[in-house]
Amino acid sequence: MERLFDSLDASTGDRPRHKALGLTRRQLGILAGMAGAAGVGLACTQAQIEDLLEQIRNRPMRRNIATMDPDDPVIASYAAAVEAMQALPNTDARSWTRQAEIHNDFCRHHNWLFLPWHRAYLYYFEQICREMSGDDDFALPYWNWTVDRQVPAVFWDESSPLFHDNRTATPTSQASDAQVGQATVDNALATGNFILFAGEAVGLNHPPHFGPGMAPLESGPHNYIHNFVGGTMASFMSPLDPVFWLHHCRVDQLWVQWNLVEENPNTNDSDWTDTEFSEFSDRDGDPVTVRVAETTLYPLLSYRYDTQEVV
Ligand code: C2O
Repeated sequence: MERLFDSLDASTGDRPRHKALGLTRRQLGILAGMAGAAGVGLACTQAQIEDLLEQIRNRPMRRNIATMDPDDPVIASYAAAVEAMQALPNTDARSWTRQAEIHNDFCRHHNWLFLPWHRAYLYYFEQICREMSGDDDFALPYWNWTVDRQVPAVFWDESSPLFHDNRTATPTSQASDAQVGQATVDNALATGNFILFAGEAVGLNHPPHFGPGMAPLESGPHNYIHNFVGGTMASFMSPLDPVFWLHHCRVDQLWVQWNLVEENPNTNDSDWTDTEFSEFSDRDGDPVTVRVAETTLYPLLSYRYDTQEVV
């Protein structure tokens, strides 16, 4: 494998190999590192690798919901998935209530696990949405509350599964510029220090829910939007409101912005990278274990944001 990836990384003529493959140098380096670490490379044929690279290049795009028409297929798939999950019995780990209970029982807040825990939560939820909607290219949309200050209109259609009936916000309520505006977001992203960006350090496998301190992204716009939408969104069962997932996609997109677009490094402290979460389920409803280090690869290999053209 190392030999294969060495050859992938070599230039072909005047064209660097990663460009010929349509990948960034970073993606190719990560793939080479993963293949080396997993020791699986020798079993892969060139064709299988080309196939994998093709999937990575075409990975689903998480788009800004403000760019979508109400009849956009992404919104239809999301509504279909929510409806199907709401119809599942609670013996199924993919049911709407069971998914929210994962948050109620296991969410990580007020420490540096906030970002990777919620990223993994979204990642498996998105996989379940693909399964339940039958739309294998489905990617969650995000709500950019920095620009669009109202809860997106599709969440107010009372005949839609995306409606939730106890919000304190109304269709015309406006989130505050001071709380979610560009200056506040810029400020949260201004540091190059992972702990100042992501939250205070905690030890390996620090349990739910809390820790010693939040970073401004969590304490500021993140908390504010939960309370602005209000009702269930202001509680630990907030994922029962379908807008929760678009709110957290925005938080995740800002981590991508900080880490991948602006190239600030995540910590390599093993108390962070080696922490594991075992409360999530895959699209078949089977339990999975996620290592924090893996979550740093999701937006390079499994999904991308429409703000992430260069990586
Ligand atoms: Cu664990 Cu925004 O919540």
